[in-house]
Order: sequence, then structure tokens, then C-alpha cells
Amino acid sequence: MRFSILFFTAVTAFFAVGVQASPVDSPEVNIIARTPYFHGNAVCYYPNGNYGACGWVLQNSDFVIALSPAHWDNGVHCGQHLNVTYNGKNIDGIVGDICSACAPDQIYISSGAFEALAPLGVGVIPVVWNFT
Ligand SMILES: *[C@@H]1O[C@H](CO)[C@@H](O)[C@H](O)[C@H]1NC(C)=O
Repeated sequence: MRFSILFFTAVTAFFAVGVQASPVDSPEVNIIARTPYFHGNAVCYYPNGNYGACGWVLQNSDFVIALSPAHWDNGVHCGQHLNVTYNGKNIDGIVGDICSACAPDQIYISSGAFEALAPLGVGVIPVVWNFT
């Protein structure tokens, strides 16, 4: 019985994070949001409707994140949301790809997401990011 309750809580937390539809500040979401913050460069990239390493098609306009090999962990973060902050602005992106050339805490973000933080021409920005 105790196991069932724990399992239900885990499943609920998983979906609460995956869907992100509700602004409700549930304890489950808080526990997961209390992950470390990483500091690295975010590089603008153009997935151009190709398949990402997570296995689905990525459009430039999607808010897509590509993780470095150091964070890739066999794709365990695919579909997970990332909060990316730059200069007082935030975007909510979804892990959809790997960035093989990235330094450990560096990320690639699709042009659509990049544009929400800085002009495209800037190309690279120093960001703070966390899994949510
Ligand atoms: C996103 O990051 C900013 C600062 O880095 C933080 O203030 C905010 O609470 C974060 N949001 C989430 C959902 O983690």
C-alpha cells in the first residue's frame, strides 16, 4: 500500500513536470524544480525539420534544447523541460537533441527559443539553466 502511494506520487510528479499546463505549485513540482542551476553558453541552432537525437522531428520554431554529451545520459532527459535564463528573460524549452560538440554545461537552443532571449545575430549568449 505504501509502495502504491509512492508510485502514484512519482507518476503524478512525472506528468506534472512533463505537461507544465498548470501553474499550480504542487510539492512534487517543487521537489523536482529544486535541481542545480548550470552556467554555460547557449548557441543558436537550426534543426530545420530534421530528426533530433531524441527521435522526433524538430522545427526551428519549436523551443528545442540540445544537451552536451556530459548531460545526455543516454537520452534520459528527452522531453524534459529546461528553464533557460538570459538577461532577465526566461524560456521554457524541451530537450530534443544532443549537441556533440558542446562543453559540459553548454547548450544549443533552437532559433525560435533563442530569438525569445536575444537577437538571432548575437548567436551565442551566456545563460543559466535548470531542469524543471
Ligand atoms: C528559471 O530560472 C530563473 C533564474 O535562473 C529562476 O528565477 C526561476 O525560478 C526559474 N524557473 C523555474 C521554473 O525553474
